[in-house]
Amino acid sequence: MSKQTTAHIVWHQTTIKKEERHRLHGHKSCVLWFTGLSGSGKSTLANAVDKRLYELGLHSYVLDGDNIRHGLNKGLGFSAEDRRENIRRIAEVAKLFVDAGVITLTAFISPYREDRGLARGLLEPGEFVEIYVRCPLEECERRDPKGLYQKARKGEIPEFTGISSPYEEPVAPEIVIDSAVMTVEEAADHVIHFLLDRGIRL
Ligand code: ADX
Repeated sequence: MSKQTTAHIVWHQTTIKKEERHRLHGHKSCVLWFTGLSGSGKSTLANAVDKRLYELGLHSYVLDGDNIRHGLNKGLGFSAEDRRENIRRIAEVAKLFVDAGVITLTAFISPYREDRGLARGLLEPGEFVEIYVRCPLEECERRDPKGLYQKARKGEIPEFTGISSPYEEPVAPEIVIDSAVMTVEEAADHVIHFLLDRGIRL
């Protein structure tokens, strides 16, 4: 972004603060940042947690990789640079949702540590919950829900994460879910308990 575009734009403080929205909702907000290989179960788990939060009467929303790439991030590809921009925009949107008092679940491969670190850095301490949905590549490839691994192996999809593009595992995620071992319901339980133990409810 050029300096020109932001030089004469002044940040306007909002009248209603995040804490007031928390009081209105009866709970705090945060980002649940699901990261992992394609096919590891990020979206499935994010949606299961979202459903549980809904049933508990907590306000939440899922931002999902494949959907966001159809709209907001249409036109971005899978080079390291495009993935960084993809994650940067998602992180900015997630920050807005958190400011609006919503528990925001993001399901993106987000393969680069540095990019996830930047996302974390946009949020306040404690607001960014990194959830590593860990699943061996062989298992993701066996599941291959969209048939993409097969295409990637044939060389039809360049820069495919895990095959021809790297995935950098999180070093110190708040939560690790072994999705090849746990059921979706067990994993969702784990995340919900983490939030309740952290005092998400006011
Ligand atoms: S990220 O790396 O920039 O975080 P994102 O989560 O938005 O990726 O999108 C990943 C989804 O795009 C995958 O689940 C898969 O369906 C699809 N996809 C298409 N091409 C690729 C590719 N080269 N690498 C990974 N995923 C791809």
